[in-house]
Amino acid sequence: MNEKEKLQISDAFRKRLRNADNVLFFTGAGISSESGVPTFRGESGLWKKFRPEELANFDAFLRNPDLVWNWYQFRRKIIRNAKPNSAHKAIVEFEKFFADVTVVTQNVDNLHNRAGSKNVLELHGNIERNYCIECGKRYDYVEFPEIETVPKCEKCGGKIRPDVVWFGETLPMEIFREAERKAAQADICFVIGTSAVVYPAAGIAYRAKEFGAFLVEINPQVTDLSSLADETFHEKAGTVLPALLERLKEEMKK
Ligand code: OAD
Ligand code: ZN
Repeated sequence: MNEKEKLQISDAFRKRLRNADNVLFFTGAGISSESGVPTFRGESGLWKKFRPEELANFDAFLRNPDLVWNWYQFRRKIIRNAKPNSAHKAIVEFEKFFADVTVVTQNVDNLHNRAGSKNVLELHGNIERNYCIECGKRYDYVEFPEIETVPKCEKCGGKIRPDVVWFGETLPMEIFREAERKAAQADICFVIGTSAVVYPAAGIAYRAKEFGAFLVEINPQVTDLSSLADETFHEKAGTVLPALLERLKEEMKK
């Protein structure tokens, strides 16, 4: 599809769009790839070049805090220089058309918030926030200088870590429960830019489907979820979502 082409959608999807109240956007790293933020899996994914067991778990942090801290500083730098793209922005505009729009994201890049989405549930935390591993003191949106060593808590001297969920850690339970609740209520669930293989997060899409949501997948690649989707767009989110928004505007005029 090029930008001028009209997006083809099924009648069933059109009907759902017209009648939906509760809409859920479940997003993964792919939605931010057009902003220049690397994804995790696939040929140019982060996990091709870096080993998660050395970087994204608590034991690694205790063993080698500076290495882990620097890896997050490196990613923060990419994210700070990145801007929300047309997909993040389109999701914000969808809020005008439905009673309840929730974004459930696996991303830690803060780009949905920066785009202006109102209800964002971050299942894996947010790389812009930090906390002390000893006393829990929060260091939200503090700009740590480009240091090579992990910063120490001003209250207790403990090490400060990014507020992201590492392998082996549990998801923030209240947020996950809320995401499950929204999934169960959703009339439409968009699954965007995720390989949908990391649990329990991926379960959100399955739960939405199980409770009757119309499942729409937007991903250039086929995933484990594709066969379950009611509508699939195997194209980039930055192309499909703005085109879909245009379709929606036309529908609502009718
Ligand atoms: P992945 O890297 O596993 O998957 C990214 C998906 O985005 C792939 O299916 C791509 O095909 C798709 N994609 C790429 N470009 C796209 C575009 N322009 N538009 C739409 N889709 C596109 O990322 P996630 O599924 O988010 O966990 O990974 C899940 C979790 O694994 C992450 O949250 C992270 C990682 O380990 C933690 O940090 C806890
Ligand atoms: Zn502390």
